[in-house]
Amino acid sequence: MKKILITGALGQIGTELTAYLREKYGSGNVIASNRRKRGDESFFEAGPFELLNVLDAKEIAGICKKYSINQIVHLAAILSANAENDPQTAYDINMNGTYNVLEVARELGIAVFTPSSIAAFGASTPPDNTPQDTIQRPSTMYGVTKVAGELLCDYYFKRYGVDTRGVRFPGIISYVALPGGGTTDYAVHIYYEALKNKKYASFIKAGTYMDMMYMPDALKAIYDLMEANPDKLKHRNAFNVTAMSFEPEMLASEIKKYIPEFQLTYDVDPVRQAIADSWPNSLDDSAARKEWGWKPKYDMALMTKDMLDKLTVKLNIK
Ligand code: SER
Repeated sequence: MKKILITGALGQIGTELTAYLREKYGSGNVIASNRRKRGDESFFEAGPFELLNVLDAKEIAGICKKYSINQIVHLAAILSANAENDPQTAYDINMNGTYNVLEVARELGIAVFTPSSIAAFGASTPPDNTPQDTIQRPSTMYGVTKVAGELLCDYYFKRYGVDTRGVRFPGIISYVALPGGGTTDYAVHIYYEALKNKKYASFIKAGTYMDMMYMPDALKAIYDLMEANPDKLKHRNAFNVTAMSFEPEMLASEIKKYIPEFQLTYDVDPVRQAIADSWPNSLDDSAARKEWGWKPKYDMALMTKDMLDKLTVKLNIK
């Protein structure tokens, strides 16, 4: 039976992944952790929670021993736009956090799942149908730490036999917890604003294509890859995964099918636009499809219907 520690469990992905994995493995077998406690009390009543700063390797090891952890899902990281605002902190948390997790995993024989990102690519990467194995010269601190994380995970598997696995996530769209400081966040905010104010000013320019995925597919990707037969995995880490690629106008058109008055305008943030411009337009995820059966369920149309339905309830829109 898996005994899982999730770092960054109060983030956008962690909040939902904790509940999802507790359904699969039982509440007591999934330990949520985060640097600070925040949010709804119901989260903390639903299963074990520990305060954990991933910069403290002893603290990670202590929690792993306390619960006999055999799988870490390492999510704690600073996202792309926040990382550009404070590259030093981003380097510290993203690099040393991942290094500490891998070291504890090596010492205690624990498997590690940690996501990389479309940010691991850069302007010299082929932007369309970006291959699994290709040029990776990112120009952001976030991207630098993600490429290094991919390489470290490969290294710990080859050198020490640590069972490392991971995907390169695109922008993740969800309605439970907001993302914090990412470049793809516009594609989340647009739904909230469409319902609340019937208008949204996008910080990403019209015509900027990026890969995206709806949260249910992201959760399934993590679970399926963790459960995948290792004999079939040629890549193990950093699998390209995607579910859709769009630019702001396409998303606005889809939203207008439900909210005809919706108006999209632009208030472009040069920092986030430069990041987006350096990322691929669309990924080739055939390695993930072949090696562990990756297949997303949600396209832009299905996702938009579900996001608007769920947010209408959450925001109490009449
Ligand atoms: N959604 C992330 C970001 O924008 C991509 O990894 O930073």
